Amino acid sequence: MEVIIKETYEHASAEAARIVARRVREKPDCVLGLATGSTPLGLYKELVRMHKSEGLDFSKVTTFNLDEYVGLPKEHPQSYFNYMQTNFFAHINVKQSNIHIPNGMAQNIPSHCEDYERSIETVGGIDLQVLGLGVDGHIGFNEPTSSLSSQTRIKTLTQATIAANARFFESENKVPRHVITMGVGTIYKSKHCLILASGANKSHAVKMTVEGPVTAMVPGSALQLHAKCTVVVDDAAASELSLRDYYLWTYRNKPDWQRV
Ligand code: GLP
Repeated sequence: MEVIIKETYEHASAEAARIVARRVREKPDCVLGLATGSTPLGLYKELVRMHKSEGLDFSKVTTFNLDEYVGLPKEHPQSYFNYMQTNFFAHINVKQSNIHIPNGMAQNIPSHCEDYERSIETVGGIDLQVLGLGVDGHIGFNEPTSSLSSQTRIKTLTQATIAANARFFESENKVPRHVITMGVGTIYKSKHCLILASGANKSHAVKMTVEGPVTAMVPGSALQLHAKCTVVVDDAAASELSLRDYYLWTYRNKPDWQRV
């Protein structure tokens, strides 16, 4: 994994946006895998700025979101569909027909999940997958013990994740118990993975993901086996990394042609 440490959340978000924008400029019809949660908000804000003031063009881009709550209609304020429209899609020129988000209201969830996998394959796979990190090291909604080769499917959230996400709902009772998520195996097939984390409450998850053993107990750690995975964190999230100084040194000494 390549680890990039930036001083603040804003700097880390700007770095992530630079990486995404570079991919979009190099391959205007690229396929982006997108995440929700608090972490990527700064990234989306910066990409919107780049679209508005630098003409960053999303007109040929296709997107696939990682996950969605089961039982929330699209228009629900906490649906990930609504999150993506509000924080990103409504402010850029991506075609609505190129946007893919699992449908939490699907009648037949297993067949919807298979279709989702197939649609990713049909467009040639995901070029760049953006990921946040759960406090327990989950990616998407792949909770600990998720199979490391899992595909898009329904999952039951842990009580800890429900408690962590309760801040967005009226109460913990209102957080859906089930979700549809790309699997660890689905994410692994992406050509490039970009993990983002910020804040001291993520420092242990970052440590375990980057420097811990590869284990289903920390789903993000599976990406240690990925040929191209970039981890962008702020100082607080990097605080438990043993090789912190080495990552900073590597980044400083990287020739421009080698930058992601
Ligand atoms: C949520 C999402 C993940 C997200 C993670 C961290 O449960 N399903 O995709 O990365 O948890 O969220 P946050 O960025 O709000 O800390």
